[in-house]
Amino acid sequence: MNNPTSILNVDLAERSYPIYIGTNLVGDSAVYRPHIHGQQVLIVSNSTVAPLYLEAVKSALQEYQVQTVILPDGEQYKTLAVWQQIIDTLLENRFDRRCTVIGLGGGVVGDMAGFAAACYQRGVYFIQVPTTLLAQVDSSVGGKTGVNHPLGKNMIGAFYQPQCVIADIQTLSTLDNRQLSAGLAEVIKYGLIGDPDFFAWLEQNVDGLMARDQALLAYAIERSCSDKASVVAADEREAGNRALLNLGHTFGHAIETGMGYGEWLHGEAVGAGICMAADMSRRLGWITESDQARIASLIVRAELPIYPPDNINAEQFMQLMSVDKKVLAQKIRLVLMRRLGYSVVTDDFDPDLLKVTLNEYGRASG
Ligand SMILES: NC(=O)c1ccc[n+]([C@@H]2O[C@H](COP(=O)([O-])OP(=O)(O)OC[C@H]3O[C@@H](n4cnc5c(N)ncnc54)[C@H](O)[C@@H]3O)[C@@H](O)[C@H]2O)c1
Ligand SMILES: [Zn+2]
Repeated sequence: MNNPTSILNVDLAERSYPIYIGTNLVGDSAVYRPHIHGQQVLIVSNSTVAPLYLEAVKSALQEYQVQTVILPDGEQYKTLAVWQQIIDTLLENRFDRRCTVIGLGGGVVGDMAGFAAACYQRGVYFIQVPTTLLAQVDSSVGGKTGVNHPLGKNMIGAFYQPQCVIADIQTLSTLDNRQLSAGLAEVIKYGLIGDPDFFAWLEQNVDGLMARDQALLAYAIERSCSDKASVVAADEREAGNRALLNLGHTFGHAIETGMGYGEWLHGEAVGAGICMAADMSRRLGWITESDQARIASLIVRAELPIYPPDNINAEQFMQLMSVDKKVLAQKIRLVLMRRLGYSVVTDDFDPDLLKVTLNEYGRASG
């Protein structure tokens, strides 16, 4: 193995698995070998990532029978119809129960490949090779897989844990700045959920991260995965505190759905969503004005939006948030900040306060 910077363990009893974080891992056969059980391997990638990294992965897997399926690139293709191409390829090539599906790409590829692995013959081995910052710090960790439905994002899916995650920092060198920023939104989220020291570290180091300093990126990825892994280990199927990972997301999903998938990046919507959650938390008297300003300033330095797009008004926001799947028994539950670096899941707030924030951040109705 090419000296991975670190190996983190996601602690889920018999479904536990390692996350390898380092450089030049995608082409290192020794990283894959312990996690592949049969002879058959299907690499799922897309038309952008495959030209960059598919050959390296294939070269590491020469001892196996390897097939590939290259999906079109984009959130708009995260559909059951496109997903079926993966299942078709597995069937056409007579893949058996001991086969391994590898998802090589960002969160879209990872979610779709994982869902295919979860469903094919009721579950085959799965390896995540995330190649965006967002996928390395978030979507590849925790076992959520799935596709979108025209009526809602990620509405069809399964909890399905991989055999391992291989996060190669080198792959981030080809990522554009907008995608890097989108990933940082999730990184900042971890600081605000329950890791105030990490939040302070990010305030010190966000410029270095934006400049793609590899050591800083490695640290941020490791700390983010470790924060996420401990939340997931305590609540794998989101019966309670796993919902904390949705900080900024109820607002963010409303932005994504309201804009139509694909206009704003997920992480951009989360950036603005975090600012809206901070605004409500300040109105509740839970965080101070200066905390709110620190959060907004970090989001700005990560080159993320702090306001939603100006074509969603407060009423539309409210409607979009009510169909979000985190709504239980008609009450909107939100992740809000009890203090800086410590969030809670709650529906215990005056709904009028939510309206004040929506009016402040959504375009005034009428
Ligand atoms: N499963 C989960 O827990 C979870 C968590 C968060 C997000 N998600 C999902 O993840 C998706 C977003 O993931 P994303 O932000 O990675 O988007 P993405 O997969 O669309 O990737 C972003 C873009 O970067 C390209 N790309 C990927 N790697 C690259 C590289 N190394 N160099 C150059 N270009 C590269 C992709 O082809 C794509 O065009 C959403 O569908 C979201 O729902 C899932
Ligand atoms: Zn997210």
